[in-house]
Amino acid sequence: MNQNILNMKPSGIRRFTALAKATPGCRMLTIGEPDFDTPEPIRAAAAAAMAQGLTHYAPNKGTDSLRKAIAEYETKRGMACTMDNILVTVGATGALNTALTGLLNPGDECIIPIPAFPLYESITVAAGAVPVFLDLKKSNFQIEKTALEACISEKTRAIVLNSPNNPTGCVLSDESLAIVAQLAQEHDFYILCDNVYAALSSGPVPDLTLREELRERVILCQSFSKPWAMTGWRLGWLAAPGTLIDKFTLLQAAQIASVPTFLQKAAETALQVDVAKMAAVYRKRREYVLDRLDKMGLTYPKPQGAFYVFPDISRFGMDSEGFCIRLIEEGGLAAVPGSCFGCEGHIRLSYCYSDEELKESLDRLERFICSL
Ligand SMILES: Cc1ncc(COP(=O)(O)O)c(C=O)c1O
Repeated sequence: MNQNILNMKPSGIRRFTALAKATPGCRMLTIGEPDFDTPEPIRAAAAAAMAQGLTHYAPNKGTDSLRKAIAEYETKRGMACTMDNILVTVGATGALNTALTGLLNPGDECIIPIPAFPLYESITVAAGAVPVFLDLKKSNFQIEKTALEACISEKTRAIVLNSPNNPTGCVLSDESLAIVAQLAQEHDFYILCDNVYAALSSGPVPDLTLREELRERVILCQSFSKPWAMTGWRLGWLAAPGTLIDKFTLLQAAQIASVPTFLQKAAETALQVDVAKMAAVYRKRREYVLDRLDKMGLTYPKPQGAFYVFPDISRFGMDSEGFCIRLIEEGGLAAVPGSCFGCEGHIRLSYCYSDEELKESLDRLERFICSL
């Protein structure tokens, strides 16, 4: 076996979901996946594309028509680009894999602010590179200059930003982003922006992909999964300088050849579908969950997007994994330990669940913490 692969760890999120499923009657707030079905026009477009016979290989970069549609979507959003800047990928997972594997040589360093989605570490390790963790808990989940400077070395190749964040739902401030921009320019490294939750935020999110002067070092990683409830379709994209996209395409050609052709056709329809209604439902659920946590006396970093909240459980005198195991066994509820995201003392709750599920689950959490 490749030693880098032997160094990879399994996903804690899936482990806790599996534990919950194996426990009779257990509810879960573990899954970071929309509970909505993919909107009907998108499903109809896939069926029509299949019926039309769009079942042959697509170009390695993606179909011209989807890449053009994505470039228009990004340009309208404020990241001016053309189809030469776009690579259609297998979800954000594929985008992250291609970008990080494409950028990192063995021994290179990749800065990962934590708490973080565990995939960044996995891919970095698989590439034989070194994850360097920047702990944001100490700085109210924002980036401070001295802390980021301490992570930088001559081997630093990239930093991964995820705002709104999984697991906290927090958004990086203008000040945090200005620090990243300044140090990336001074020390010459790439900024990989994982913006998969950008469309699911309460208001405008500060965003380095909109900054013209950073265009040569910013790589956007985006997904159809979360905003359009299309997790099972496995569709996403990278937007980056054309020279990088050309090289990333060689890698993607070796990894997957290309993304399924009829799905790309349906993705063009998705870009036309307004996700505001689904985003409004998540907002309403968030208010409910936060209100319940407030009443339980649990504190949390204030979420402004995504569909997660990250309550602090440190006062119960257990580590997050111990807390989550007891929560399943004694409270009949599964959550994901903060340790899965590199951050002790917290648990992640997802609110991709119906009102009834949320109420029952939060009743269980409340009874459990009262029992402690
Ligand atoms: C922050 C973040 N990035 C990327 C992904 C991967 O998304 P997908 O591969 O479904 O597009 C996820 C999924 O949970 C995520 O939370």
